[in-house]
Amino acid sequence: MRLDNRVALVSGAAMGIGKAIAVLFAQEGARVIAADISEQGHETEREIREAGGQCLFIRTDVSQENHVQAAVRAGSERFGPIDVLANVAGIAHEKPAHELPLEDWQHVLNVNLTSMFLCAKHVLPAMMKLHRGAIVSISSIQGLFGFPGYPHYAASKGGIIAMTRQLSREYAAEGIRVNCIAPGTVDTPMNHGVLSRVPDPEALKAAWAKMHPLGRFGRPIDIAYGALFLAGDESSWITGQCLAIDGGVSARVL
Ligand SMILES: NC(=O)c1ccc[n+]([C@@H]2O[C@H](COP(=O)([O-])OP(=O)(O)OC[C@H]3O[C@@H](n4cnc5c(N)ncnc54)[C@H](O)[C@@H]3O)[C@@H](O)[C@H]2O)c1
Repeated sequence: MRLDNRVALVSGAAMGIGKAIAVLFAQEGARVIAADISEQGHETEREIREAGGQCLFIRTDVSQENHVQAAVRAGSERFGPIDVLANVAGIAHEKPAHELPLEDWQHVLNVNLTSMFLCAKHVLPAMMKLHRGAIVSISSIQGLFGFPGYPHYAASKGGIIAMTRQLSREYAAEGIRVNCIAPGTVDTPMNHGVLSRVPDPEALKAAWAKMHPLGRFGRPIDIAYGALFLAGDESSWITGQCLAIDGGVSARVL
């Protein structure tokens, strides 16, 4: 299996893309620490264990350094040193820049970007000791091409791409690879929320499908397969990259 003997910390593992990554990593042999602010993380742990995998859910607010430290400590005590980090937790609120309260800007930056710094900060020492590690973060095509209404989200996702490149250079000599993924629109609770707030959800769904040259929006597993590739040895000569998994959106823009 691709992640045999690996210990993976997956943030945002309670639902959506993070849950798909946690489940797939466990299927591929990883011992998974599922870190999420939502108690629904218990469900991820239960599903993985019932399928014969190993998972520990730790309720964690990844924007808080003491939470991240505690999750890394407890997870490592249970499963051993972490050598795979998937930064998936994220939030999105719609508001144009001229109406955006500073607190909302800071909240989105803290959850989406500062969390990447905090999780990396606290797993890197163990990876450096092992001289092995893979960090995979979920950016967005919004980090490449902003959508109207999401200045804070786009900035946080662009920051993930920049930090991915920076960390990849800093830690390559330590045997640690750092990559990210820029998904297009994916069918997850985050977007179910968006659909529930518009008058005609079916029309919006059709517009999203049309926006992607491959004619549909993404499934969480589409992103999880990319994360598995970037976390495992098949990508051992890849670092500092941003892989668009977006049904062709970015190819069309260019
Ligand atoms: N769904 C999409 O279309 C899409 C597209 C591009 C990028 N992304 C990114 O993919 C990631 C996952 O998105 P999703 O669509 O699965 O979202 P989702 O809302 O379905 O899941 C996000 C998860 O993050 C958790 N979370 C939120 N705040 C947290 C915090 N402070 N600490 C710990 N956990 C926290 C939530 O509880 C939830 O389990 C996000 O970073 C998102 O920005 C999503």
